[in-house]
Amino acid sequence: MIVGKKVNLLFLCTGNSCRSQMAEGWTRHLKSDEIHAFSAGVESHGLNPDAVKVMSEAGVDISDYRAKHIDEFKDVQLDVVIIVCSNAKETCPVFSGNCKVVHYGFNDPPEMAKELADKGTLKEEQLDCYRKVRDEIKAFVKTLPESLINQSDKVVRIDSDKDNLRNQVRNLYSGIANEGDSCCGSSCYSSSSPLGNPEFSTRFGYTGDDLSSVPPGANMGLGCGNPQAIAQIKQGEVVLDLGAGGGFDCFLAAKQVGSEGKVIGVDMTPEMISKARENAHKGKYANVEFRLGEIEHLPVADSSVDLIISNCVINLSPAKDQVFQEAYRVLRPKGRLALSDVVAIAQLPNEVSENVDAHCGCVAGAALVGDIEKMLKNSGFSEILIDIKEDSAQFISDWFPGSGMEKYVRSALITAVR
Ligand SMILES: C[S@@+](CC[C@H](N)C(=O)[O-])C[C@H]1O[C@@H](n2cnc3c(N)ncnc32)[C@H](O)[C@@H]1O
Repeated sequence: MIVGKKVNLLFLCTGNSCRSQMAEGWTRHLKSDEIHAFSAGVESHGLNPDAVKVMSEAGVDISDYRAKHIDEFKDVQLDVVIIVCSNAKETCPVFSGNCKVVHYGFNDPPEMAKELADKGTLKEEQLDCYRKVRDEIKAFVKTLPESLINQSDKVVRIDSDKDNLRNQVRNLYSGIANEGDSCCGSSCYSSSSPLGNPEFSTRFGYTGDDLSSVPPGANMGLGCGNPQAIAQIKQGEVVLDLGAGGGFDCFLAAKQVGSEGKVIGVDMTPEMISKARENAHKGKYANVEFRLGEIEHLPVADSSVDLIISNCVINLSPAKDQVFQEAYRVLRPKGRLALSDVVAIAQLPNEVSENVDAHCGCVAGAALVGDIEKMLKNSGFSEILIDIKEDSAQFISDWFPGSGMEKYVRSALITAVR
């Protein structure tokens, strides 16, 4: 393959059938004087005719492109690889060549179109999924190559799309649940993150008894405080844990609600739910159940819960207002919120708030204290108290040594009443 002096850029996706082909098409169309664009995949799916159609509507002919395998590029000196998959969770390709690798995810049009097709929509509406992603890719390509210049190697950009962000978070926590696996290779797991270190728990006031009373592995060291300390859990209550992880707080709560009460843990990561259920089985908990679901769409009935706890999860949500609205919906009148979370005490700089590692590591998604208060109020909560733990500056600094993150975020205990 002849390689000139332009930037050699490869768009990589799972099948090289749609997104990476559209990206190659747009780049050749708009940036051919600066960029030599290629695309490839890791599986052979063939060129997607709907992608060809919507690109042709936009004046770009990709009909003679063919699906290429990444192996065809092993002798090409690439400058940049942009991985454009987002929710191809199991198959998001890893590129380990010696060049800059950037993950800029776009939603998967065939998957979106299939969802619509299953609902019986017209083909034209399904094509709109392709058109939307086509236009997003065009907007991204227009920013090239400048938008790559200031990024360090192995940078991951957060896509503005909320589902994308949730997928990044889910991928990270599924890796943690699978003990050490990471998603997309190095893309969204920071090996320097202390997440997953159970030794941190004692700093938050969990006692030795707490730690030894739960099944081994339930405490994954993923919390940032101790909601139990403020929850005042009573016998017979129904307690809901948002983002339950391995079930640590659920098992502690289970003892307090007793056999008349019940604890429900919700988590969106299937691997976490499996782990938590295994732990419940090991510990023979009859009053704890784990449900797979998003805290923005709780799989819980209206007015059915006395107390909601959560530990270091809401900061990860791209739709915190929706989480609080859902919390309000499922709580009974006079039901309580007792949350531990990371909050922002100053506006986070863009390079932090756009960094996926920092987001998955529970800092970049932290909302400003005033905004949290507003969201809670707007959802209908009263008696709102946000207790910022000033001494958490130390462990925040230990989480991300040398990053200066402690200037912006703190752990806080948040209580409110429906
Ligand atoms: C930092 S860990 C905390 C786990 C647990 N609360 C603990 O203290 O060990 C975050 C957990 O929240 C889950 N999570 C993140 N965002 C979520 C969302 N939008 N809906 C449901 N679960 C979510 C993740 O899968 C992960 O298990």
